[in-house]
Amino acid sequence: MRIQLTRHLACVKHTERKRNLSLDMLESSDGNECTEGFLKCEECRQLYPLIDGIPLLLEDVAEYVSTRPSLLGKWILSSKTSTMKEYLKDMSSVLTKPDKSQGNNLYEVDGSLYGSYNWAQFDYTNDDRFLSLLKWKMNPNDLYNKVVHSTMTNLDGAALDLGCSSGYATFQLAKKFAFVIGIDLSFSFISEARRRMASSRQGNLDFIVADCLRPPFLPSKFDLVMALNIIELMDIEQLVDRIHRLLKEDGEVAFTSPYDYNRTQIGSRVSPQTFRQLLQKSGFRIESKYVTAEAYIPWTLKINERTYLFYYVDYLRARKASKAKR
Ligand SMILES: C[S@@+](CC[C@H](N)C(=O)[O-])C[C@H]1O[C@@H](n2cnc3c(N)ncnc32)[C@H](O)[C@@H]1O
Ligand SMILES: [Zn+2]
Repeated sequence: MRIQLTRHLACVKHTERKRNLSLDMLESSDGNECTEGFLKCEECRQLYPLIDGIPLLLEDVAEYVSTRPSLLGKWILSSKTSTMKEYLKDMSSVLTKPDKSQGNNLYEVDGSLYGSYNWAQFDYTNDDRFLSLLKWKMNPNDLYNKVVHSTMTNLDGAALDLGCSSGYATFQLAKKFAFVIGIDLSFSFISEARRRMASSRQGNLDFIVADCLRPPFLPSKFDLVMALNIIELMDIEQLVDRIHRLLKEDGEVAFTSPYDYNRTQIGSRVSPQTFRQLLQKSGFRIESKYVTAEAYIPWTLKINERTYLFYYVDYLRARKASKAKR
């Protein structure tokens, strides 16, 4: 993690006003980059570990690990300092707890959807069996290009990509904004995104492990928030509320969704129309062309060598309305 990222982050328990997070650097690759350490809230003393260069801005790291036991073993083996090893070993007692949620493990390196999103974002090839069968040429990442292309360019602004997975859209956004952050609950995806970041020339973006519903940022921080294909995975009312809080006045949000509740659902189900109504009720002004017209953007995910999902994805953009207009 670049040390300068610290000033953009807030304790997830104290996001209303600025409290400093101090960085306890245990291991550094150069003066600017912390590879192992802790961020600490100076107010509540909450500790956020920084493992393999990745900050985990999670309220309950032990609970996170209990749904991802294989990560803990890897972290203990790869940690460089005795302080971090001890911290992680202390945590291993949580492995005896019942594993309540397997949901997000789908997106860790040994989960069934990890490869699918890497494929859709970066790894598909033109001789792919399914893609070459289609009459029209379609790249799985056209969806992200279209969404990013149609957002404003703001070379002074900040953008946030929620549930960014391996970061394709985040990298595209970084060409249009001064600074971009991608967050995801999957440690594996954030590692992958950071690996790509290290080999890219882009220096104005960063990736962290954090929960979209407990985002570690102060209010009114972002000019743009992207929430691509995540609304089925969490409580949508909470998500909309968090995005509203994170945006600056008149800031923009872009959503896409296939409304695929057959595969995953946490929280309540919305249709394209009830989703639009929810946004309007929650202090957003939907751009007029998206109010009644649903989008049908083709998108595909490769599940395995012989199975693909083909979606028509809805797309809409909205702005945080000024208080007077709510
Ligand atoms: C369906 S994938 C979409 C990924 C990417 N936005 C795209 O469209 O290709 C959902 C992603 O959201 C992440 N995710 C799920 N729940 C989350 C949460 N509460 N906070 C942060 N990320 C979450 C998953 O780990 C996964 O990477
Ligand atoms: Zn705190």
